Amino acid sequence: MGEILRETVSALEKEESSEEAQAQLDIWKYIFGFVEPAVVKCAIELGIAEAIENNGGPMTFSELSSTLGCDPSLLNRIMRFLTHRNIFKAIPTSTSTNHGYSYAQTPLSRRLMRNDKHSMAAFILLETSPVMLAPWHSLSACVLANGNTSFEKAHGQDVWKYAAENLDHSNLINDAMACHANLTVPAIIEDYSEVFDGINSLVDVGGGNGTAMSIVAKACSWIRAINFDLQHVIDKAPEIERVEHVAGDMFVQVPKADAAFIMAVLHDWGDEECIQILKKCREAIPKENGRVIIAEVVIEEGGNKERLKDTRLMLDMVMMAHTNLGKERTLKEWDHVIKMAGFSTYTVKSIKNIVNYVIMAFP
Ligand SMILES: C[S@@+](CC[C@H](N)C(=O)[O-])C[C@H]1O[C@@H](n2cnc3c(N)ncnc32)[C@H](O)[C@@H]1O
Repeated sequence: MGEILRETVSALEKEESSEEAQAQLDIWKYIFGFVEPAVVKCAIELGIAEAIENNGGPMTFSELSSTLGCDPSLLNRIMRFLTHRNIFKAIPTSTSTNHGYSYAQTPLSRRLMRNDKHSMAAFILLETSPVMLAPWHSLSACVLANGNTSFEKAHGQDVWKYAAENLDHSNLINDAMACHANLTVPAIIEDYSEVFDGINSLVDVGGGNGTAMSIVAKACSWIRAINFDLQHVIDKAPEIERVEHVAGDMFVQVPKADAAFIMAVLHDWGDEECIQILKKCREAIPKENGRVIIAEVVIEEGGNKERLKDTRLMLDMVMMAHTNLGKERTLKEWDHVIKMAGFSTYTVKSIKNIVNYVIMAFP
């Protein structure tokens, strides 16, 4: 018996010391974690990915620094940092004049180009903008006060009113959301095209600059697409073939269509507002065969360590910092708002490699 106890204690001690060792390594991530997005933002602003892409192939260091007009010793350190993370690939070269490397694109570095179909540049620029970083400084004050108003504390009004009065910031949000739509909508069409079956008209509620509907209109030529958003967003939206832009307030009325699509909007709002928006969506669609297609995060309960779960939990923190009552919801929380909005049934499907699920709610 004594032997078993000694073995158990020694196993626990070993586990504790390996956790200690791991913590000693992991803690640096929390001290310097902000450095990664900050340097990536710098790379986007410098246009490193575009320079290499425009070169049509790997670019020597001296070509890169002279094209960008950068201080070579500083750029060299930036490139060392980025290539260590597989953002650009360093290819050893023989001449001594080019710091020993040429640089090529990688799948990650291509996502830093502003005009690429996989671009996430605008999303990174939004999240690292002074406007979006400021609310993080009052997160603890807001949690202590039991109210999620970090953005209001920093800027005196909620994010949507702030955007309406600061059109540069509004454009940054719209461009960032277009990156999100470019990533998510093709994945939904590929993995779950049935959502659009039998629909002749579709309204995207809070559709931003219309990117989602432009993708749907191209892929499903039979669908008449409506992009619905606030007036200041619609005023700046580009003309898109076979997409009608409509301005309005989703809390008042949603344009009528066979189905409503609503992506990354409900998570900006608390449950009561969410129920109001869903009721307006329900009123906009036919009772028979109508549907609301909700593309949102579902927070999985339990301890699963799936990689996207971490991204979903981060998004939940972003909602806390950037909206008043917004949050990412568990299935139980979705069940509550969908039923309270008067829908009779719904289905839930996860989509491969993206953070959003598709919830289809039926009147
Ligand atoms: C997080 S963005 C999502 C954009 C887009 N659905 C996407 O996923 O790419 C939220 C959108 O809701 C819009 N919005 C906010 N309040 C609104 C309202 N009262 N009526 C209509 N749209 C609104 C914003 O202007 C913004 O475009």
